[in-house]
Amino acid sequence: MSDKKRIFSGIQPSGNLHIGNYLGAISNWIKLQDEFDSIFCVVDSHAITVPQDPETLRKKTLEIAKIYLAAGIDPKKSSIFIQSHVPEHAELMWILNTLVKMSELEKMTQFKDKAQNGNSESVAVGLFDYPVLMAADILLYGTEIVPVGEDQKQHVELARDLAKRFNHKFGETFIIPKAFIKEEGMRVMGLDDPTKKMSKSAASEYNYISLTDDVETVKRKIKKAVTDSGSEIIYADEKPALKNLINIYASFSGKSPKEIRTLYVGKGYGDFKTDLAQVINSFLTPFQEKLNAISDEDVREILRAGAEKVKPIAKAKLEEVKKKVGFIL
Ligand code: TYM
Repeated sequence: MSDKKRIFSGIQPSGNLHIGNYLGAISNWIKLQDEFDSIFCVVDSHAITVPQDPETLRKKTLEIAKIYLAAGIDPKKSSIFIQSHVPEHAELMWILNTLVKMSELEKMTQFKDKAQNGNSESVAVGLFDYPVLMAADILLYGTEIVPVGEDQKQHVELARDLAKRFNHKFGETFIIPKAFIKEEGMRVMGLDDPTKKMSKSAASEYNYISLTDDVETVKRKIKKAVTDSGSEIIYADEKPALKNLINIYASFSGKSPKEIRTLYVGKGYGDFKTDLAQVINSFLTPFQEKLNAISDEDVREILRAGAEKVKPIAKAKLEEVKKKVGFIL
């Protein structure tokens, strides 16, 4: 392995991957993979913390890996693999489970959201424990930097705390990871409700633009996107819906919000939305062509090779951990 710093990140193969996942996470990975020793995971074990149809899960797992490739993750530079192919993740999670406190997990915003404000009666223990598996993912590989969207910051903080706690109790073992969150694209909001993040588990498909939406669907969804009162294209906190749409426009076009504002002086929402759909489609169309050209066989081979490459790192770290806690090897 190289002496470059390591980055690790992952995405759940559940629901439809959307432009928020691309702008908040994947687009940053592409840039970072040249500079860092990069590992990107498809986190299927995380996905089953809420009910999944087995056939769909298998299909989605391959699709996420294909999305990584089509977006520009280069398997020659980065390792891509499926979480459940490296059982060390689950094993390390168990050990970390003995260090984490219930109260720490009860505080997790994502858990509270998914469990309808912490209603623990109806949710699986796996959903509660989910951040500990994420900590294991990160810590197993000596990860220094975790490129994610803003919603994952709290989970990375927990990984940091657990690493420090383990090191304190058993001696220097884990590198303390840091979240890497880029200002631009870190929090893409829902098209139907700009007060909540764009989410692949949203009830309405009008919440998100999926990376596999066709040209007409994108036009329809952007047309239906909520806007604020008024008719001018203004970039301001008081206009959260418009601000979100301008941010999306800016991210895909490379123009600044200020330039976009200038472009639409004297024009209305209609013109702006038509152009926004076009800007998104000019990214999605070539992306989808690449995506559709990747075969299941090719992606399976890349995932197999990726797992082979990362397994020795995970195995060595887990052995070190087991020795430190007093297991006989
Ligand atoms: P997941 O699958 O929910 O999301 C994948 C990535 O997309 C980012 N993201 C967003 N960014 C901007 N705006 C949005 N609306 C938006 N929605 C999602 C997320 O921040 C994330 O970076 N727990 C993780 C997966 C995971 C992981 C890991 C990540 C498991 N183990 C280890 C990093 C390191 C998750 O559920 O992401």
